[in-house]
Amino acid sequence: MCVVKLDFHYIFQDVNLKSLIIWLIISFTRAVFVCILSGLVPFAVGSETAGSMTYPAARCGVTAIRPTFGMVGRTGVMSLSESLDKLGPFCRSATDCALVLDAIRGKDPDDISSKNINLEDPFSIDISKLTVGYLEDAEMEVVNVLASKGVNVIPFKLDYTVDSVQGILNFTMDVDTLSHFDSWQRTGQDDVYEAQDQWPLELRRARMVPAVDYLQTQRARGKLIREIRESFTVDAFTGNATDWERVCMGNLVGMPVVVVPTGFKSIKNPPSGNIRRRTTITTGIYAPPQHDHVALALAIAYQSVTDHHKQRPPIDDLGPDDSFPNHPKANYPPRRWHP
Ligand SMILES: *[C@@H]1O[C@H](CO)[C@@H](O)[C@H](O)[C@H]1NC(C)=O
Ligand SMILES: *[C@@H]1O[C@H](CO)[C@@H](O)[C@H](O)[C@H]1NC(C)=O
Repeated sequence: MCVVKLDFHYIFQDVNLKSLIIWLIISFTRAVFVCILSGLVPFAVGSETAGSMTYPAARCGVTAIRPTFGMVGRTGVMSLSESLDKLGPFCRSATDCALVLDAIRGKDPDDISSKNINLEDPFSIDISKLTVGYLEDAEMEVVNVLASKGVNVIPFKLDYTVDSVQGILNFTMDVDTLSHFDSWQRTGQDDVYEAQDQWPLELRRARMVPAVDYLQTQRARGKLIREIRESFTVDAFTGNATDWERVCMGNLVGMPVVVVPTGFKSIKNPPSGNIRRRTTITTGIYAPPQHDHVALALAIAYQSVTDHHKQRPPIDDLGPDDSFPNHPKANYPPRRWHP
């Protein structure tokens, strides 16, 4: 099994063979998605602290489940935040996600946050007994397919009064991460890190967070979790999987989400010519914590009558106009806070 810390900043945007090969060569972690998407490997296991599974799965159009917090043990995986880090499978379909999740879940004696969380058989769930909410930004095709399979679908909104969800995520993740990179920062190794505007800056900011504010943040997080539990009045809901507020909320609460590909759209500003490059469209199916099987059952039902998840980039049929420009070189600003 391969366990990687995913880097979602540089995932390729378009489905194109040459880009697949370029990315395969320059990055192992990104290559993992490319391998799944292009059908080379059946699955991979990724990790998410805040978005590192949902964003690349959405970008690349692979099906993934970010499971309930604590469902999969994390021994041996680089830790950013004990209360946020989760592992989960990326696969070709929700069916495969169910099989892989079932194989990797369970109490890990070396990870005290892990638990034996039951995964009921998603294949034996009667989805016609489920009520699924659809958010304002849901993909209506998914909603209509589920309705046609007998699911009771209703418009839905998750209500919570905690208004600083993104701030809670920042404080929690930054302080927790710095506690793992304390000596890295104290010994000045962060000064030679290439992307000075990213981790070094974020972790220097974390050094300034007072303990009182960190504790208040955790209280607000507890309130958020209670409010979400109360307002989760449906069996599952569907909506955009990459909305940042929702990514923060889902991770702070530890709620499972299945990312499902739902089609393709044209890329922005395509080069002239008859190019076939497209970008994936995806959506999320969310269930309450410990109800991963419900989200999986719905994704399996959707994929049983649609074939968006079966699309593969053209492997042996590159058209003359399918060229792919070199990836632009990143321009990192100079370091900021230290002399
Ligand atoms: C959270 O951190 C990011 C990255 O540094 C920053 O862009 C964003 O403004 C912060 N958000 C809040 C609400 O603090
Ligand atoms: C989901 O939300 C993000 C951020 O608001 C947006 O960029 C994206 O286009 C949305 N995706 C869909 C499928 O609506």
